Amino acid sequence: MNLKDYIARIDNYPTEGIVFRDITPLMANGEAYRAATKEIVDYAEGLNIDMVVGPEARGFIVGCPVAFEMGVGFAPVRKPGKLPREVVSAEYEKEYGTDTLTMHADAIKKGDRVLIVDDLLATGGTVQATIEMIEKLGGIVVGCAFLIELDDLNGREKLEGYDVKVLMHF
Ligand code: PRP
Ligand code: ADE
Repeated sequence: MNLKDYIARIDNYPTEGIVFRDITPLMANGEAYRAATKEIVDYAEGLNIDMVVGPEARGFIVGCPVAFEMGVGFAPVRKPGKLPREVVSAEYEKEYGTDTLTMHADAIKKGDRVLIVDDLLATGGTVQATIEMIEKLGGIVVGCAFLIELDDLNGREKLEGYDVKVLMHF
């Protein structure tokens, strides 16, 4: 099965000049969704993880089945004003705009081994902010897994020193 067959390309979305890679066809196909999840689980199997962390909203779609399958917890990274208790936050720039991300301050315990999961690595701003918050809480980022990496945007440069797994390159 070629997972790339399940990624739709939309030109000039959400703004002129952006080539959007849409994972909803992959999610809509049970076999493809399961195969992608399994590939990330196989990667993470040797990392001895305590938690999966995924950024809103597509990071939930990819990260939650990984956490469920591995029998570990999932901590959400959310946009400001969405988490009801004490949070830590980090600012970041993305391919189309600037934003702030938050996590509950007790989502990660000191020494937790954490796998970050998201659908896509573009400029790397989202994952960099996520790493910043996890490390602020004393967590250890032992891996970062993405369905897709947009190679031209060089997000990988922000992940120097971290272990990265990518299923598809565009
Ligand atoms: C997208 C995508 C990644 C991030 C990647 O999320 O799901 O989380 O951008 O971009 P970066 O590497 O340049 O930071 P988006 O912020 O659009 O939110 P969504 O998942 O809620 O659509
Ligand atoms: N998130 C950031 N850039 C993106 C892109 N080009 N396609 C889909 N999601 C994205």
